[in-house]
Amino acid sequence: MNDEREPKDRVILALDVSTAEAAWRLVEVTQGLVGMYKVGSQLFTATGPDLVRALLRRGERVFLDLKFHDIPTTVARAGVEAARLGVSMFTIHALGGGPMMRAVVEAVAEFCAREAVARPRILAVTVLTSLGAEDLARMGVRAEPERIAVTLAHLAHACGVGGVVASAWEIARIREGIPDRGFAIVVPGIRPQGTSAHDQRRSATPQEALRAGADYLVIGRPVVESDRPREVLENIVRHLSP
Ligand code: C5P
Repeated sequence: MNDEREPKDRVILALDVSTAEAAWRLVEVTQGLVGMYKVGSQLFTATGPDLVRALLRRGERVFLDLKFHDIPTTVARAGVEAARLGVSMFTIHALGGGPMMRAVVEAVAEFCAREAVARPRILAVTVLTSLGAEDLARMGVRAEPERIAVTLAHLAHACGVGGVVASAWEIARIREGIPDRGFAIVVPGIRPQGTSAHDQRRSATPQEALRAGADYLVIGRPVVESDRPREVLENIVRHLSP
């Protein structure tokens, strides 16, 4: 990376609300401060692809965060539908494994070449930033979240995936093993200094994440649940300027 021109282009606002009206209110109030809007499972389940299409028609860039995890054929087909919608990025779970990741990468590349449409960046989710070592241990996984995240990032890269979603604390180790700067690292769990971490176990401030080498920052609740969402975002973007 980086194909982005301004600090705000690295900021992704998670539209984690339950109605199209609430989503549009957030889009209106954050105009000019956000590079991309993230539509996740809550909003997508409530409103369907129509809202995504409407955002795209307005000229917004959309990150479709539905974290596909299924058999290779199903995920490949879902990926093609995401590409057909015209989103800039979408997510899959790296835990779906190599065959699943390779299938979606190939199907999307083939579809986009055939239809002459822009190819979305496929991002792999490694370990959810809400999970700590003890949670993984309870799931029978006895390794540090950071180690698993790095292993899964390597696998995703080897499968041709365009980047990963990872916590700020994993970036250095991911970059160490994958020097390819075209491989994007998208960091959720961003918390401005002094705000609540909510259920995020591995959060970072915007500055920490950028210093660590994040390409994109995903921010949700600190903006969405604020009485002054624009101010919170302005503050973040100001701190991102060199
Ligand atoms: O509200 P908050 O800032 O914690 O929102 C983070 C957003 O990033 C949520 O929409 C969540 O689904 C998403 N996300 C995450 N951890 C991942 C992948 C995505 O928190 N590993």
